[in-house]
Amino acid sequence: MTRDWYTEAIFYEVFVRAFADSNGDGIGDLPGLTAKLDYLQWLGVDAIWLLPIFPSPLLDDGYDVSNYFDVHPDYGTLDDFRHLVKEAHRRGLRVIVELIPNHTSDRNPWFQASRDPNHPEHDRYRDWYVWSETDDRYRDARIIFLDFEPSNWSYEPLRGAYYWHRFFRHQPDLNFDNTQVQQMMLRAVQFWLDLGVDGFRVDATPYLYEREGTSCENLPETHAYLKRLHKFVDAYAPGTMLLSEANQWPEDVLPYFGDGDEFNMNFHFPLMPRIFMAMAQADRTPIEQILARTPDLPAGCQWATFLRCHDELTLEMVTPQERAFMWDFYAPEPRMRLNLGIRRRLSPLLDNDRRRIEVVNSILLTFIGSPVIYYGDEIGMGDNIWLEDRDGVRTPMQWDGSPNAGFSTAPPEQLYVPVIDDEVYGYQRVNVMAQRAAAGSLLNWMRKLIHIRKMHPVFGHGSLRMVAAKPSAVLAYLRATADETVLVLNNLSSEPQAVTLELPAYAGQVPVDLLSKTEYPVVTCGSYAMTLDGYGYRWLKLS
Ligand code: GLC
Ligand code: CA
Repeated sequence: MTRDWYTEAIFYEVFVRAFADSNGDGIGDLPGLTAKLDYLQWLGVDAIWLLPIFPSPLLDDGYDVSNYFDVHPDYGTLDDFRHLVKEAHRRGLRVIVELIPNHTSDRNPWFQASRDPNHPEHDRYRDWYVWSETDDRYRDARIIFLDFEPSNWSYEPLRGAYYWHRFFRHQPDLNFDNTQVQQMMLRAVQFWLDLGVDGFRVDATPYLYEREGTSCENLPETHAYLKRLHKFVDAYAPGTMLLSEANQWPEDVLPYFGDGDEFNMNFHFPLMPRIFMAMAQADRTPIEQILARTPDLPAGCQWATFLRCHDELTLEMVTPQERAFMWDFYAPEPRMRLNLGIRRRLSPLLDNDRRRIEVVNSILLTFIGSPVIYYGDEIGMGDNIWLEDRDGVRTPMQWDGSPNAGFSTAPPEQLYVPVIDDEVYGYQRVNVMAQRAAAGSLLNWMRKLIHIRKMHPVFGHGSLRMVAAKPSAVLAYLRATADETVLVLNNLSSEPQAVTLELPAYAGQVPVDLLSKTEYPVVTCGSYAMTLDGYGYRWLKLS
């Protein structure tokens, strides 16, 4: 049976601006990324997901699109993109780009025409955005960028009316009730498919339509359009992967898979903060609870799981009490907080503690879903909370200990943001070159685990069953297919644990550690016992 590639893939999220600067202007670009594909192939990831590369005023790092049919000049040209795709494919790497259907930049010519009654093309674009005489419609829709925007409406003096925006005021929402808008977005999809992309990460999917008296999220009209998108892609370029960003509870995300006729993948947002919560409390309960609330998926569908990404660590999908706990524990300084989240990278969140970084990655690589690794987290990069908005987690990739971390030859003042240069996380200490050379480095450890995961497809599509290990500081589960069973144990506590497990169905089997190759005593029909170091983990194949 052939399986869809993404059900077993490991994704790598890359911010082109941050990755590698090929022409010395201080800004990462497509040729820079292409030159680093060997590194990504060496690391062992299967697909790269590129943050937006479209022309844009970059007030939201490209999520404010001014042209869906080109590449931002900072990043290169369409030919550079074609070359990237070709070189990636030659190495067996797939390329995922962004589709940002919900909103454009206010500098997009469509909005310029829509807002101005005297614009020569006003009639054509008048209804491409969501306009209102008053700012009191759709009151039940929440505000997402709470730290920046007081309302989802902003006034446009030229038109003498308000326009709707779920994000920044410079990102007006497109009007999906307009059939030309619906078609235009499919044309953009077709354009990037023609360039050879393997999939799309579709931004902000819940918000496409607005209806009075609703939260304006997850509406039937929105799902209908997303199904149309799937149908179009399936007919035009079968095998293309569609991944949706719906920051919602599992039961609300399920409809985004449809019957396998909407998205192939969705991020599992609520799982992510619960991994951190479980670590902070040395108790697996938060993970157990969200798994219990996670529905089975239609055939061929898959979750995308992650620890960190380019945005703040969102705390939208937790209760107010849990949020307060998370803020207290992980964001003691006000500057670490942003909107309903935490703007910090993985390594600083875990106090740069190698054992903790390992165990959360052990969970990421063996639990449900296909893992998405955020660039730089494989070397334990730090952050800079003093930069604006989310820039602090988007700093230049640290390649080596040379000036600018080997990211760029520009004068340091010219970099799009400064490299991390502090005592602990500074590029002189934390960089790819040094870690490649050190056998015991985090990078080499990540690479090893990535390769082991890839040798065992059970992690991609096996069933997952929790094992009621004692004590609750240990997160234990069985991943199983017809061919293979792996028992995974993760100690969420800094203390060593004597674990006992009931595994009657596996009596007579011998656990072999996939990581160390150690063979453990045979499972008997009574309970099975084993000790784990503080934050220790084991991937045990039963055979
Ligand atoms: C998504 C992106 C985020 C962006 C927002 C608005 O949530 O992940 O970076 O700011 O959409 O486009
Ligand atoms: Ca450049």
